[in-house]
Amino acid sequence: MNTLLSRTNAIFAFTLSVLASLTLMCALSTTLKEYNQLVSVKIVATKKLVKNVADYSAGRERNDLGFISFNLDADLTPAFDWNTKQLFLYMTAHYKTRNNALNQVVLWDHIIQRGEPTKLQLRNQHTKYYFWDDGNGLKANDNVTLTLSLNVIPNAGLLPISTVPSIHSFSFPNEYITKNA
Ligand SMILES: *[C@@H]1O[C@H](CO)[C@@H](O)[C@H](O)[C@H]1NC(C)=O
Repeated sequence: MNTLLSRTNAIFAFTLSVLASLTLMCALSTTLKEYNQLVSVKIVATKKLVKNVADYSAGRERNDLGFISFNLDADLTPAFDWNTKQLFLYMTAHYKTRNNALNQVVLWDHIIQRGEPTKLQLRNQHTKYYFWDDGNGLKANDNVTLTLSLNVIPNAGLLPISTVPSIHSFSFPNEYITKNA
């Protein structure tokens, strides 16, 4: 049958399978890519203070609250390939306390859309989120590690999350500050 309808149907089905296979190839082309190994990131904490204040979300106990500022130099250009739609970045602090072998606190995040500048140069950037400890584990803590993680949001495919291998460690002071930071 050589009707207009059957020809249209054949063209439509063919177009659809071409698009589907292109999308699949686009997704597969970046599945094994280790974006975290390709970017360069340097973080340095420039201010580190700790207060002991009432945490109303924890029944008014007095817990440690950290205040840090940081410099971030990052070149995320290699994370933008043909399949990258946007990049979600977040910075996490990792540390050990008497109560917990591992504490992780997300302190800051940032989204880079395709087409926006892919190099970041931040100076004395404040954190976006509170750095609460669930006890008194920040004062005099001598190994707090900052890492940057990437979540690559692709046009097609998986949403890989990975952490950049370069890390920065710092110590909190031995004394609480009492005036406003
Ligand atoms: C600091 O902590 C990190 C993990 O959070 C660990 O890899 C590193 O070995 C520690 N450094 C020291 C000097 O304990």
